[in-house]
Amino acid sequence: MRTDKGQIVNLADYRPTDFILERVDLTFELDPTNTKVDSRLIFHRREGVDPSAPLVLDGDELTLSGLLFDQNELPTSQYDATPESLIVRDLPASEPFELTITTYINPEANTQLMGLYRTNGIYCTQCEAEGFRRITYFPDRPDVLAPYTITIIGDKAANPVMLSNGNFLGGAGYDEGRAFAAWFDPHPKPSYLFALVAGDLGVVDDTFETMSGNEVALKIYVEHGKEARAAYAMDALKRSMKWDEERFGREYDLNIFQIVAVSDFNMGAMENKGLNVFNDKYVLADPETATDQDYANIEAIIAHEYFHNWTGNRITCRDWFQLCLKEGLTVYRDHEFSADMRSRAVKRIAEVRHLKSEQFPEDAGPLAHPVRPTKYREINNFYTTTVYEKGSEVTRMIATLLGESGFKAGMDLYFERHDGQAVTVEDFVTCFEDANHRDLTQFSLWYRQAGTPLVTVSSQYDQSSGSFTLSLEQMIPATPGQPTKEPMHIPLSFALISDNGALATPTAVKGGEVTGEVLHLTERQQNFTFSGISPRPVLSLNRSFSAPVNLHFDQTPTDLAHIARYDTDLFARWQALTELAVLNLTQGVRDLKTGKALTCDPAFLSALLEAAGDETLEPAFRAQALTLPSESDIARELGGNNDPEAIHAARQAVLYAVAKEGQPLFLRLFEDMKPAGAYSPDAASAGKRSLRNIALSYLSYAEASHARAAEAFAAADNMTDLAQALTVLAHRFPDSTQATEALETFQSRFEGNALVTDKWFSIQATIPGAGALERVKQLMADARFVASNPNRVRALVGSFAFSNPTGFNRADGEAYRFLAEQILAIDQRNPQLAARILTSMRSWRSLEAQRADHAHSALMQIERATVLSADVRDIVERMLK
Ligand code: PHE
Ligand code: ZN
Repeated sequence: MRTDKGQIVNLADYRPTDFILERVDLTFELDPTNTKVDSRLIFHRREGVDPSAPLVLDGDELTLSGLLFDQNELPTSQYDATPESLIVRDLPASEPFELTITTYINPEANTQLMGLYRTNGIYCTQCEAEGFRRITYFPDRPDVLAPYTITIIGDKAANPVMLSNGNFLGGAGYDEGRAFAAWFDPHPKPSYLFALVAGDLGVVDDTFETMSGNEVALKIYVEHGKEARAAYAMDALKRSMKWDEERFGREYDLNIFQIVAVSDFNMGAMENKGLNVFNDKYVLADPETATDQDYANIEAIIAHEYFHNWTGNRITCRDWFQLCLKEGLTVYRDHEFSADMRSRAVKRIAEVRHLKSEQFPEDAGPLAHPVRPTKYREINNFYTTTVYEKGSEVTRMIATLLGESGFKAGMDLYFERHDGQAVTVEDFVTCFEDANHRDLTQFSLWYRQAGTPLVTVSSQYDQSSGSFTLSLEQMIPATPGQPTKEPMHIPLSFALISDNGALATPTAVKGGEVTGEVLHLTERQQNFTFSGISPRPVLSLNRSFSAPVNLHFDQTPTDLAHIARYDTDLFARWQALTELAVLNLTQGVRDLKTGKALTCDPAFLSALLEAAGDETLEPAFRAQALTLPSESDIARELGGNNDPEAIHAARQAVLYAVAKEGQPLFLRLFEDMKPAGAYSPDAASAGKRSLRNIALSYLSYAEASHARAAEAFAAADNMTDLAQALTVLAHRFPDSTQATEALETFQSRFEGNALVTDKWFSIQATIPGAGALERVKQLMADARFVASNPNRVRALVGSFAFSNPTGFNRADGEAYRFLAEQILAIDQRNPQLAARILTSMRSWRSLEAQRADHAHSALMQIERATVLSADVRDIVERMLK
């Protein structure tokens, strides 16, 4: 395990390498425990560099077994090799030279899943961010780009499939029992995009014809027998390729594109050039085993990795501080793709829900960091929701500021100017400035300042002059290392809605820039005055969530209900309903705390049920409306001193009130919303199922009975309905025999299907209440729980810590101590996974004092451990600061 040496990497220290890498030639002789790697590298010294400067290569747990300089042995006095580096001295001043480095590595023993490892008998690599240095000594940084030639030699019977990046050169028998395959990737790439896969896999084949008529072979490799479950992924891939041509003018650039699904993977998927490696959870789907959400995730992630071919691979990052350059932009692209494939408004709602429940807490806690950080200890810990999701929001704001054509002009310039380069966020922003003749200096603060801005809003209407004045004030909270902030450029989409529901158009605006529907808040405090407005309008602000900010705006329930009914932006209607729900839920928590009976505002109930019953609205939207803010959303809105029990109780009470009031509607929806015909994962059918299933959930409250859910469970003919019915049974009636039986039926029906077993684990891990910890402990002893598999660990331990507020935040702190022990155990095998799961405690300071105390001691228990990976140490120390 790599432990922490306390070094901090600073953006300000960036400098280019002394040597330029011209070519990479790798030969792998595969062996499960002793793979030989020969690496031939051709370098020359960069012009102007000190002629005596040594060549420094990175390593991680490596041993050097051979080193040749231009094919000759090097005297040992000329180099130093440690597990972490290889330093070679006395190299030529300017002419190119060749180094041949030999290392032996043990894929079987690689439990971190970084570098070359084995998963279910398959050889597989993961190199981002710094995994390549676990394979061979190398300048392992994203600004070192070269073409790669790869030769793979392996046992013929065990490895009928041997893959790497680029185009296939050829393959044949090699010697007794062994075969070889050779690959060449002409596109210069950094080492983090290298990949190798070998083993015995099934394949699904297809082709795609690009816009200029090139035929690309498409291949998805899966375990034998699972080929049929890759059909949806293949379809999503072809749609992604087409969409990127049409929307961004981006064409694929090799004659083959391959995807491999593996069952042990730390993340979702990886965009290696021409050879994407996926967590099989994001490839495999069929109606019996995958939910609508699974299908949507597959579509989005297939697209995301494919889109990286241009945003990430052809144009890559200069250094890891620029991670959002590829991730934020590519998330924006996959969001747009999904919006075009599905319902734009519903997609936006889901994105904002995710952003607020994941990124907002990160930005408000001890792990807050700018979208483009300036220092890190462990880069693995910066694959965060801030870099990804807030990074995407920042890209979206550029599109909002510049408009569709201005954004496109900037993107076109970016692709043209920087193709083949490793660049920075500044390079990216400059393209938009140059293409639009606009200064984005203030806007760029979004990349540098952490924390979610808080915009405080008040308004005044003057009947006699017909003027409407809006006062806005922005405040960006202090975050680690950033005590004070500059005012930012916040684009707020808005509408003024008249009492008859029509949108009012002002005759003039004073006080700041307004372009179309967007108001530009650029000062700390700013007043906008709109004239020619009569009668008093209702302000709808931050429509479509044009800026990732918190709004503090004391809008009356009547005004919110007005927006919920009339706004032409569906997202804004959902936002107003959510705001109404939040008012009721937070008031409910306060009432419970003071012993008052919880009452729901009738205006909220009627607005909600009106939207839910409105047949002119798509079912998926109505289901989103009915999905109340989560317990952690409520905790975030309350802001501090949180008692998860009280939050849970208040939310349950509001659910019950909605269920009672809407019972006839829910009965109708449950009857009417069953899609006709065979299961299809399309968005419209999925929307109907989601509305029907949320109706089922409300009915379980209204009827106070498990009967309907048990029937729905028995009748379900697809995983979406089955898992939803099971969740209702298990979460609402955990002690009923029906729940126990359904859990058993579910497990035995899908015995041997690990991805379905994960659903079974996480449904049980998220059963509310203090009993959850015992349940989780028992499930960890189940034979189906494989501690070395990240998906299993996330499904059980991760779901418990991230998604079971009452179970995890037991008042006695037992679950925090349990998590601390788990983190230490997981850390021994897989530091990245341990660090990721530990972030579930990132909001510990907003708990009420007793729980916060327990959480603090659990974190201290981790911090005091004698052996701790760099990954976990970095997270735990930042959380305790
Ligand atoms: N680059 C991957 C993606 O977002 C994520 C990833 C990072 C995967 C690090 C593995 C390791 O598409
Ligand atoms: Zn990505």
